[in-house]
Amino acid sequence: MTLNWINPNDYSFNSFLLLERFQIRMMMDSCGWRNDDEEWKRCMGIALNANPAVKWYLMHRCPECSALVEELVAKAPAVTETDQIRKAEVYTLLSIEDFTIHTTPEHMASNCDYIRGWSKERLFELADFTGKTVLDVGAGSGRLTFTAAEKATWVYASEPVGTLREFMRDKIKKERIKNVRVLDGWITELSFPDDTFDIIMSGHVVGDEWDNEIAEITRVCKTGGWLLNCPGDSERDMKPCAELTSRGWEELHYVGSYGKDVFIHRKQVKK
Ligand SMILES: C[S@@+](CC[C@H](N)C(=O)[O-])C[C@H]1O[C@@H](n2cnc3c(N)ncnc32)[C@H](O)[C@@H]1O
Repeated sequence: MTLNWINPNDYSFNSFLLLERFQIRMMMDSCGWRNDDEEWKRCMGIALNANPAVKWYLMHRCPECSALVEELVAKAPAVTETDQIRKAEVYTLLSIEDFTIHTTPEHMASNCDYIRGWSKERLFELADFTGKTVLDVGAGSGRLTFTAAEKATWVYASEPVGTLREFMRDKIKKERIKNVRVLDGWITELSFPDDTFDIIMSGHVVGDEWDNEIAEITRVCKTGGWLLNCPGDSERDMKPCAELTSRGWEELHYVGSYGKDVFIHRKQVKK
């Protein structure tokens, strides 16, 4: 499924040099092997043959994928025509568009439907942020972080992708924002003691390992605090989330700026 977040023709194949180790691993697992996508393997092999620095980077940044990289390159057809190589590069750049867009965070903030069409009032409807200490898990380009910072005392933006952390730090510096701190982190391994935050929020992050993720955000939330899921508006149809409601989260609903249903969630933590 194409998200229409990027025009891959605008991106250099060198964008792969900005991927994080976990992104390379996920790309190799999902695009090349787990789904057994022959066209992706063919294109990636052609593109890597033509871009040895990217091949070297992928193998050294993510050693657990190095054998797969070697195999892709070894099995790739010999292609020398520049337009055919570029076609292969574009295919692979689009195949990971949700990672490719992280290499241009300013485009992420302006092109992604869930950010572009979203109104910050939707976050404020979920909880009272005044005077609160807040964690944004998987903060991305800071949609929820910088909104919460308008009312909260402190906002911590946890984000595993370096380009996005730097984007948020640049914004903090440029706009002299005093109450936001940015750090690395996984939703399943948060670098905070138990009972630290009044509010923990996220958008498009929870969902790979529901129980582990919810257990970890609950651990760092104070009793009486709130867990929020606020994904933003979507150009596509959204569905209610049984995974959250079955775990006791309240589901709220609004019609977003694209005329599509949007489901948002919250749960008050009781320990
Ligand atoms: C689609 S973006 C959403 C960004 C932001 N939450 C928003 O809604 O505007 C998903 C974000 O989650 C981050 N992410 C992915 N896996 C994660 C994990 N296991 N733990 C924390 N963050 C993760 C990604 O790096 C990315 O910034």
